[in-house]
Amino acid sequence: MADDAPFDVQPGATVGEAEIDALYASTDALLRLNFVATLDGAANGPDGVSGSINSGADHQGFAAMRRAADVLLVGAGTVRAEEYGPARTPMVVVSRRAQRPESVRDKDGIVLATTRASGAQEDERIWVCGEDTVDLAAVIERARASFGPHVLCEGGPTLAAELVATGLVDELGLSWTPHLVGGSRAAHPRILDGTDVQVDLTCRHLLEEDGTLLGLWRVASLTEQARRSPR
Ligand SMILES: NC(=O)c1ccc[n+]([C@@H]2O[C@H](COP(=O)([O-])OP(=O)(O)OC[C@H]3O[C@@H](n4cnc5c(N)ncnc54)[C@H](OP(=O)(O)O)[C@@H]3O)[C@@H](O)[C@H]2O)c1
Repeated sequence: MADDAPFDVQPGATVGEAEIDALYASTDALLRLNFVATLDGAANGPDGVSGSINSGADHQGFAAMRRAADVLLVGAGTVRAEEYGPARTPMVVVSRRAQRPESVRDKDGIVLATTRASGAQEDERIWVCGEDTVDLAAVIERARASFGPHVLCEGGPTLAAELVATGLVDELGLSWTPHLVGGSRAAHPRILDGTDVQVDLTCRHLLEEDGTLLGLWRVASLTEQARRSPR
């Protein structure tokens, strides 16, 4: 547990829902990523979705992070793979296409952030942010202006890697669950996929329940990163 944790907890102590909420609470302008991974680093299970690799403890963290967030950010690949539905929290789906994925096509509380090249017409539920690719900094700024400062990105790996590479991510919430999946990187990506990054993090907390490790890390500040990797 970090020295400035919101409460004092000794190793081996039990934490309940209120403490878990306190660990994830933040009203700051924050971009937090949340992922679950197997012990061999896969971001999905044998069926290609993350529901088959999560656990009760992971779900507790997931729910606490959602309660803390003002707006969710999700890549269209995740929405298609997982038939991601709407949530109580507003959701922005990032895509190069003009239409929202099927599972959220006619649902309230969903915004599509897309490109001008998609041909989509801007309205309150379609944000055109970028020419050929969505400008992620612009989307986050717009999401904060519309819904509030605390943005929670629930994946997937392609979007998350771009966000990290762009320097937009402040925190990573990650659970390791006691599963092994094996297979290829194409079938089972890691939590960041496609874009190279080099980022250091510091641990805020690490909890354990029934073999799941539930952690929160903060991205080291840019000046700290520059000091560690001088050019
Ligand atoms: N373990 C976990 O916690 C977790 C969480 C989420 C997802 N997953 C898993 O991850 C897998 C999906 O991976 P993925 O990498 O395809 O997911 P993804 O990152 O959600 O989706 C990638 C898609 O997002 C859109 N996109 C991303 N960046 C963009 C940009 N800058 N501009 C425009 N569009 C952009 C594109 O959509 P278009 O193709 O529509 O243009 C792209 O094809 C699934 O197996 C899912 O179960 C795991």
